[in-house]
Amino acid sequence: EKGGYEHFMLKEIYEQPTSIRNSMLGRLNTVNGEVVMGGIEEYEHKFMNAKRIIFVACGTSWHAGLVGEYMIESLARIPVEVEYASEFRYRNPIINSDDIVIAISQSGETADTLAALEIAKEKGALIYGICNVVGSSIARATDAGSYTHAGPEIGVASTKAFTAQVTILALMALTLAKKKGSISESRYRELALELNNIPNIVEKVLETNVAVEYISDIYKDAKNFLYLGRGINFPVALEGALKLKEISYIHAEGYPAAEMKHGPIALIDADMPVVAIATKKNSYEKVVSNIQEVKARNGKIIAVVTEGDTAVKEIADHVIEIPDVDDFFDPLITVIPLQLLSYHIAVMRGCNVDQPRNLAKSVTVE
Ligand code: M6R
Repeated sequence: EKGGYEHFMLKEIYEQPTSIRNSMLGRLNTVNGEVVMGGIEEYEHKFMNAKRIIFVACGTSWHAGLVGEYMIESLARIPVEVEYASEFRYRNPIINSDDIVIAISQSGETADTLAALEIAKEKGALIYGICNVVGSSIARATDAGSYTHAGPEIGVASTKAFTAQVTILALMALTLAKKKGSISESRYRELALELNNIPNIVEKVLETNVAVEYISDIYKDAKNFLYLGRGINFPVALEGALKLKEISYIHAEGYPAAEMKHGPIALIDADMPVVAIATKKNSYEKVVSNIQEVKARNGKIIAVVTEGDTAVKEIADHVIEIPDVDDFFDPLITVIPLQLLSYHIAVMRGCNVDQPRNLAKSVTVE
């Protein structure tokens, strides 16, 4: 059942080239680069006139929502908010019929997310679901939606469900941008074709496993970890930290890299490994200067960089090299070494990787 892997989590990490491809199947036409999302077609008028899109979710699914915010705002120019379902539901939120509330949930059974949707429905919003489990409570409660098709996820730590959610959000952003006319035909096609190639790139990123295992052995006894990222990789920093916390029980925090000087920098010393996502993207130079600040305080840097990088290589203690992709798709590949890092550290610490203490796969009580 584990397909020769020692744990479900590792199997699911390695399934990602396939699960991402499955999420695109029937939606992205690889011949002409057209994206068709059934759920959006059905409510096209609502989507085109929406004043706002609000994502409600918990945990890893909430991180996917943050990635979706970057994608949809920049491509489709529709304002997006991302809310913890548990906060949203008790705040008497201001929602009206011009809003679209989108629940993101692997299980489709998360109590807070379901309750948040029901409130949004009462207030007249269109409610949409991005779920993995077919026929789940959230999927049944929504007006429309898009299944992620990641296949069953058994490990409590979400891996392939996250990349499938991000894939759906990328497809939604492209669809909405095209319909809104906020993207040029050539850029649309370029992004669609690059997205289509992401499963092959993920395959290559999985080859970092050996390097990541080596790094894991060096830092497995650390008491704390800091994860830094900027822009669309900020949510990936949060996700990397959550993965480490939940399966290895090491305290970890994710931060937007620039926030470091507003507090967390006080924590940096030789015992604080810092995982920095420093791919060659818009904010590359700024992340490099954040890395220098950490090094100046003797912090240890594990950096995820673009193949061929030289600047970070010179200052970081370790680099994990990954292929270059368009900014929009970076989270789909930067998250992979972070999933592997948490996996190996947890295994080396003797933790129960697939069933960490105190956690359940779906949180059906609030
Ligand atoms: O099934 P859901 O996507 O609604 O679950 C949400 C969270 O409970 C879930 O992502 C949780 O944070 C995972 N254990 C993270 O790995």
